[in-house]
Amino acid sequence: AAAITHEAENAVISQGVVESNHTGFTGTGFVNYNNSAGGYVQWTVNAAQAGSASLTIRYANGTSTNRAMDITVNGAAAATSRAFPGTGAWTTWTTATITADLKAGANTVRATATTADGGPNVDHLAV
Ligand code: GCU
Ligand code: CA
Repeated sequence: AAAITHEAENAVISQGVVESNHTGFTGTGFVNYNNSAGGYVQWTVNAAQAGSASLTIRYANGTSTNRAMDITVNGAAAATSRAFPGTGAWTTWTTATITADLKAGANTVRATATTADGGPNVDHLAV
């Protein structure tokens, strides 16, 4: 099935704020993680059936430092310290994709910043 876009600005946000000052985002904005470890964006993703799925996070990182994040699905690690390298500018958005197992019905996908720099700016999750 075609991927469904889940906007970060509509997700559950801890230690981050919705902003729209860097162009190129989808929806109405993006999440600017606080510059500290532990902040997260958490989406609820519905799956028609259990199985493997591609989780694609669209992000920008205007620094030259990796803004690694842990990705969990239903509380279990799906990717540990996944790299979100610099994209060249805060207005340059790119995607990072991981593969994870989803259950049928509602799933919780959380992207948590693991370094003191916080996460990258996150636009959306496409599944
Ligand atoms: C700048 C930028 C923010 C970004 C922040 C950061 O302030 O405008 O969008 O989140 O840097 O370094 O995390
Ligand atoms: Ca930030």
